[in-house]
Amino acid sequence: MKKITALRFPILLLSMLIGVNIIAQKTTVQNIEPRVEALIAKMTLDEKIGQLNQVVGDISTGTDVSKDDLLAQVRAGTVGSILSHTNFDNKITIQRAAVGSRLGIPIIFGFDVIHGYKTIFPIPLAQAASWDMGLIERIDRIAATEATADGQNWAFAPMLDVSWDPRWGRVMEGAGEDPFLGSRVAEARIRGFQGNNLADPTTLAACAKHFAGYGFGEAGRDYNTVDMSEQRLREMVLPPFEAAAKAGCATFMNAFNTLNGVPGSMNKHLLTDILRGEWGWKGMVVGDWNSFGETIVHGAAENDVDAAAKCLSAGSDMDMAGGTFQRGLKKALTTGRVTQAQIDEAVRRVLRLKYSLGLFDNPFLQLDPKRRDATLEKPEFRETAREAAAKSMVLLKNEGGLLPLTTSGPFKKIAIIGPYADSKGKKDYMSFWTLGLGMRDYDSTKIVTPAQALKPTLEKMGFTVTVTEICLDATCTEKDYSVARTASRDADLVIVCLGESGFDCGESRSVSNIQLNKDQERIFKFFTSGKPSVMVLFNSRPMVFDWVSENTPAILVAWQPGFEAGNALADVLVGKVNPSGKLPVTFPRNVGQVPLHYNHLNTGRPQQTTGQMWTSGYLDSPATPAYPFGYGLSYTTFSYSNISMTKSQYKMGESVDVSVTVTNTGDLAGEEVVQLYIQDISADISRPVKELKGFQKVMLAKGERRTISFRLTEKDLSYWNNELKFKADAGNFKVYVGGNSRDVKEAGFELIR
Ligand code: NOJ
Repeated sequence: MKKITALRFPILLLSMLIGVNIIAQKTTVQNIEPRVEALIAKMTLDEKIGQLNQVVGDISTGTDVSKDDLLAQVRAGTVGSILSHTNFDNKITIQRAAVGSRLGIPIIFGFDVIHGYKTIFPIPLAQAASWDMGLIERIDRIAATEATADGQNWAFAPMLDVSWDPRWGRVMEGAGEDPFLGSRVAEARIRGFQGNNLADPTTLAACAKHFAGYGFGEAGRDYNTVDMSEQRLREMVLPPFEAAAKAGCATFMNAFNTLNGVPGSMNKHLLTDILRGEWGWKGMVVGDWNSFGETIVHGAAENDVDAAAKCLSAGSDMDMAGGTFQRGLKKALTTGRVTQAQIDEAVRRVLRLKYSLGLFDNPFLQLDPKRRDATLEKPEFRETAREAAAKSMVLLKNEGGLLPLTTSGPFKKIAIIGPYADSKGKKDYMSFWTLGLGMRDYDSTKIVTPAQALKPTLEKMGFTVTVTEICLDATCTEKDYSVARTASRDADLVIVCLGESGFDCGESRSVSNIQLNKDQERIFKFFTSGKPSVMVLFNSRPMVFDWVSENTPAILVAWQPGFEAGNALADVLVGKVNPSGKLPVTFPRNVGQVPLHYNHLNTGRPQQTTGQMWTSGYLDSPATPAYPFGYGLSYTTFSYSNISMTKSQYKMGESVDVSVTVTNTGDLAGEEVVQLYIQDISADISRPVKELKGFQKVMLAKGERRTISFRLTEKDLSYWNNELKFKADAGNFKVYVGGNSRDVKEAGFELIR
C-alpha cells in the first residue's frame, strides 16, 4: 500500500467522511430526489461531466488497475461508469477508489449479459423460439443473479431490434421479426433482470437497445443506414421499446445507425419527443460504443464539441467508451451550445439510477466474494439451461414420424457425423458474445457437445452408435472422411450436425449468403445417400438448405443452444422433451427473397403461382418462404376448430373476445403455441396480411381438447394512420388462429362507431 503523506491524510479523511455521509442515509423512493439535488449542488462541472463518462474496463484493455490511470480517474471523480470489467477483485478496488473520492459517488459496472452470464443459455433468438415467457424470465433471473454476484450492476440487454434480415449478424440477439412477440419478450426479460426491486442484491438495471432501427440496416450490413417511414418505425420498430419503457426498463441505449439521416445518439425525435415525451419514460440513456464520437464520422457533427452538444441536446446522457463528453462538453457549455441545466438533467438521471440500485446505500452490495463463490454456475442453473435449449429447438420436418428415436423403430445402428457433432475444442454452440475477441474465455469443457450426450443416451437405450466429427478446415484429413464413410455406410440412420460456428453470429458478423455452405451440403449428400437421415442445424440466423429440405425426412433447428447443447438435443431426439419451439423469424428459400416477413402488405398483385405474369413475385423462385413465421412441429399433432367470437359487431372501445378449440390429436402429450393474427381489411390504408396479436403456449395431454380464449382491445386494432396517430378504423377485420402464420382458421367481425 502506498504511504499516505501528512498533508494528504486529512484530505483523504475528509473526502471519505463526505462519502460516508452520502452513504449513511438509506435510499427510499421519497428521498431519492432530494438526495440527488443535494449531491448535484455539491458537484463541480468536472465531476458532473465525469458522471456522464463511461470507460472501458479490463475486457478489451487487459488493464491492471493498480498500474494504469483508471484508479486515478475514478478518484478524481471523472468516471461515472465502467463497462466490460471482468476481474472481481479489481472491481472492489475500483469501487473503494470511487467511495474514497471527494463525493464518494459509486461506480456503476455494466456488462453485456446477452444469453446468460457464466451459465450460458441459448442465444436470444432461440429463446424467443420457445414462445415461453415464463422460461425467458427465469433465464434472465439467473443471468442477473450470476452477474450481480460477480459485481455487475447493469446489463446491456435486452436487444429489442426487430429484424427481417437474416444476413444481419445480430439477428441472433433479438426476438426475431415480429413487434408483438418482441414486446412480450422485452417485458419478460426486463422482469427477469430487474425483478420488482432494483435495489435487491440479485437484480440489475436492464438496457433496452438499440434505440432505434438498428435491425433494418440496408442490405443486412451491420451499422448501416436506415431509412424508413414514420409508420414503419411506429409499427415495426418501436413497439418492443415502448413495452420496455412501460415495463420500467431502467436504461436505454442508442443505436449506431442513422435513422432517416440522424444518428441514434443525436436523434431528438426518438429520445426526447417519443421516449421521454410521448412515453413519459424517466430513465437514463447511454450511447453505444463511441457512438457520440461516430456522429462525426457519420458527417452529422463537426468535432467533439459539436458532437457532445448534439448528443446531449437530443437526450443522450452517458457517453460509452468514446470520451467525447470528456473532450467536448465543457466547451459546449462555455460556448453556449448547451446549458448547465441540460448537463444537470443528464447527471440527475445517472445519479437516480445509482440511488435506485442501492449503490449509495452499499456500493459493495454486489461485490461480496462469499456470495460470488456460492452463486456462479450453480447446478440448478444448468438445469434451466438444458430446459431452455430443448424448448427452443424447432422441428421443421419429421416425415413418417422418424423422430423420436425409439428402439422399437426400424433403426438399430446410428452414425452421428458432421462438423458440429462434437465440436468441443472450437467452442461452438455459443455466440460471439460468449466466445473469442477476448470477450469471455470459457473453458470448453463446460459445453456438452451433441456426441457427448447423444452417444451414451442412445447406447443406453440399446442403439449402436458411432460418432465422427468432420472438420471443414485445413486440418481435415482423408481419415476423417473414410471413418465417417464407413460409419455412415454401416449405420441405418445418419444424424448430421451442420450449421454455423458460434462465432459466425453477433456484432459485425453480417454475411451476404445464408446458404448452408457447399462443403456442408456435400458432406450431407455424401454421407446420407440412400439412408434415412436427420439434419440437426446449429445456427444463429435463418439459413437456406433447400437441398436438405427436399431430401431428408427430419430437420431440427437447434440454434446455438449454449452449455447444454448436447443434453438438450438428446432430450429432444429421444422424445424426453416433445419439441414445441416455433420460428420467431421466417426462413426464406433463398437469400434473394430477403427481406421476407409474414406481416407484409398484400400488394395489388399478390402472386398465386411461381412465375405468374403481372404479379409480385420472381421468375426463378416462389415468393413464399421455406418455413413461415410461427412454424414448428411436435411429435404429436393438434387440430383447430370452432373459432368463434361472441358477436359479429363490436363497438369501438369494446373488447373483442375470440375463442378456439385446440385438440391434441396425436399419441403423446405436447405443448402447442396457439397464435392469433388479425387483418384489417377495410382500413384507410393498406394493412399487413396478418399481424400477430396474441399467443398462448398450452400443454395438452393425448386426446385433450381445450378452449383457448383471446381478448383484443381497441389498441390491438389500431395502426399508425395518415394523421400520425394510432387509431382503429371502423370496418371489417379478419381473425386467424393457428399453430403458425400460414396454416390458420379464419373468422371475422365488424368494428362500428
Ligand atoms: C457495442 C454493441 O452494439 C452494444 O450492443 C454493446 O452493449 C456495447 N458494444 C458494449 O459492449
